[in-house]
Amino acid sequence: MRGKYLLLSAIAFVSGLRFSSAQIKYPYRNANLSIEKRITDLLSRMTLDEKVGQLNQLNSGPLTGPEAGNGKGPKEMLQQIRDGKVGSLLNVVGAVETGNIQKIAVTESRLGIPLLFALDVIHGYKTIFPIPIAESCSWDPDLAEKCASAAAKEASASGLHWTFAPMMDLTRDPRWGRVMEGAGEDPYLGGVFAAARVRGFQGNLDNNHLLACVKHFAGYGAAESGREYNTVDISRYNLWNMYLPPYKAAVDAGAATVMNSFNIVDGIPASANKYLNTEVLRKKWKFRGFMVSDWSSFSEMINHGFAENKIDAAEKAILSGSQMDMESGVFIQHLKTLISSKKVPQKLLDNAVRDILYYKFKLGLFDNPYKYHNENHEKSVQLSSEMHELSKQASCKSMVLLKNENGTLPLDKNIKNILVVGNLATNRSASLDFWSAKGDTNQVTTYLAGIKSKFAKSEISFSEGYNEKNRFSTETENDMLTKAQKADVVIAVIGISGKLAGEARSLADIAPASGQMEMLRKLHSSGKKVIVLVHAARPMILTDVLPMSSSILYCWIGGTEMGAALAEILAGDYNPSAKLTMSFPHAVGQIPVYYNSFNTGRPHVDGRDGPDDFWVSRYRDIPNAALFPFGFGLSYTSWEYSNLELSSHNMDKNGSITCTLYVKNKGPLDGEEIVQLYIRDVSASYVRPIKELKSFKKLYFKAGESKKVEFTITPSMLSFYDPEGNTLLESGSFTVFVGKNSKEVQEASFVLK
Ligand code: GLC
Repeated sequence: MRGKYLLLSAIAFVSGLRFSSAQIKYPYRNANLSIEKRITDLLSRMTLDEKVGQLNQLNSGPLTGPEAGNGKGPKEMLQQIRDGKVGSLLNVVGAVETGNIQKIAVTESRLGIPLLFALDVIHGYKTIFPIPIAESCSWDPDLAEKCASAAAKEASASGLHWTFAPMMDLTRDPRWGRVMEGAGEDPYLGGVFAAARVRGFQGNLDNNHLLACVKHFAGYGAAESGREYNTVDISRYNLWNMYLPPYKAAVDAGAATVMNSFNIVDGIPASANKYLNTEVLRKKWKFRGFMVSDWSSFSEMINHGFAENKIDAAEKAILSGSQMDMESGVFIQHLKTLISSKKVPQKLLDNAVRDILYYKFKLGLFDNPYKYHNENHEKSVQLSSEMHELSKQASCKSMVLLKNENGTLPLDKNIKNILVVGNLATNRSASLDFWSAKGDTNQVTTYLAGIKSKFAKSEISFSEGYNEKNRFSTETENDMLTKAQKADVVIAVIGISGKLAGEARSLADIAPASGQMEMLRKLHSSGKKVIVLVHAARPMILTDVLPMSSSILYCWIGGTEMGAALAEILAGDYNPSAKLTMSFPHAVGQIPVYYNSFNTGRPHVDGRDGPDDFWVSRYRDIPNAALFPFGFGLSYTSWEYSNLELSSHNMDKNGSITCTLYVKNKGPLDGEEIVQLYIRDVSASYVRPIKELKSFKKLYFKAGESKKVEFTITPSMLSFYDPEGNTLLESGSFTVFVGKNSKEVQEASFVLK
């Protein structure tokens, strides 16, 4: 046998190919072979235990879920790695830390299969960018791609191969703490950002990028009453038309992995939902990557009342098409038994291992397992000046101007005295959210710091107003009002701490705390102009804030440079262009309120109150419309839309028509405008929303400039899904709406033949 390898080596060397004896002896180590061939060879060498080990993902860092009782301390975990019983670790970071563990996997396990290191890199790693819902308000997918790519660059330099992002759960309920992670309430816009974020994270899968993971599949954002981890009950019709499109866009963009959601769909936990994991994902969407559960979601099927015990959970999960087990341990404990007893076909396990190994080969981990573990590179890319600048630009483009009475903003840079009020103006610990990875709040430019830096010639005073517990006291009141008397303008920062943003952070009350409202009332009664800044990771109830403010700027959670970005906007150095991607309710009782709703059999037009407006779908105490609608956002300049025209009022199913209109920047400032195109299918075999976003253009205009804007209306914009996911395109009347938001639109009609 030995002679054979020597001869082969000699031939190989002579033919100029440099094979090591290991590569000849183990084809899976041979980088000249195709990935498929290498996987086949490796699979043939793996024991059943080693195959099951690839499906086992363990937490090796701070908890991002309940302790799953694996009870494995670091020592036992390293032994499991040596025994080939771990395929991936999450939450351990650092070029050196991960490198040391990878060395054990590669040099001390029998086959030397490298690990995948994963982390929730949701909106930045060390440099933090705006939370995803804020970023979606930029309506700038290129920006999203850049931010994801930058995050991947920092994270991969810290030894990470895989992020659990983008989260693309469509959501209509701001009580849910995770609205911050997505792209709001629209399936089309969600799809645009899903694809952009996947492209940004993955790039060409070189070692400056990460495997993406679109989550949570599916429908997690529909948790009843916005209560975290609560029941989801979506019709198949809505599942297909509202909730699935963003995930599909991520899969179509090449997302390497998909994560199960915690919730049930059609009464079956997503972790074991064969319709989702096999029928939709594999058969209809041709997904080729691998699936990972959410944290212990396999074992939680027992709580759901769907699995009798862990072995039952393991069987149901893998039979549905689920593959990697995050933290529950049910696969490593029971899959071998299930395979041996033929309850689970070996082929399912082999396919899962194949899908996982594919990406370990694709990332080059077998050929250069330490390329992600260079400490100097790690230090060189993180928190660079480019990263800070991108964070600031992204935050500028994400903050939404909701009100600006009499041009209160932008402020004159020579303004004499500004009073900044509110604990959130300086509170670093409240500045970032739960999903800020390794972002350091000490690196954050606070709102107060940003204002002081930008308005260096002005006198900037500060008063805490409400404290960290949102308590407003007479002491702070006196201090605040005394300072307010000397101020030319007051900037009041209200909102919700970043500690209440993200997973396991649902809130039943999303109006500003009473202490904050008391502070605003006192300021309002002082007669001073009050500019309200809102620091929050979800839409809040601003109904009572509106009359007490001259301007409202929704800052969301802007990340490391949030204060610098804010100051750019306050000073007019950046003309706000962002527009809402989630409706803002008048009251919690109005939730869910969203623009793309159905008309109902008794529609009501707000403001009408005649005899025909009683027996209609309305409230007696508030309007039906949102306080601020989807697509809404103001600018420091004003816009005029005119002359909406269609190239034809008839369209063939294999044709298209053009929609044109003129948009003018009436001044006084240059700025960007997001022109939105919506469509309504007036009558179809299933009811259709009163309008649906189908396209948009973000355009830059000089002050006074006018542009002809053109959209092409295609059949794909008019089609929709039936409850089984079949695409329908039906003749009939359609209405086109074009405007600056989902409410202020011009319309025209056409007929699809
Ligand atoms: C959490 C989240 C999921 C995250 C995972 C790992 O429970 O639901 O989004 O990726 O666990 O942290």
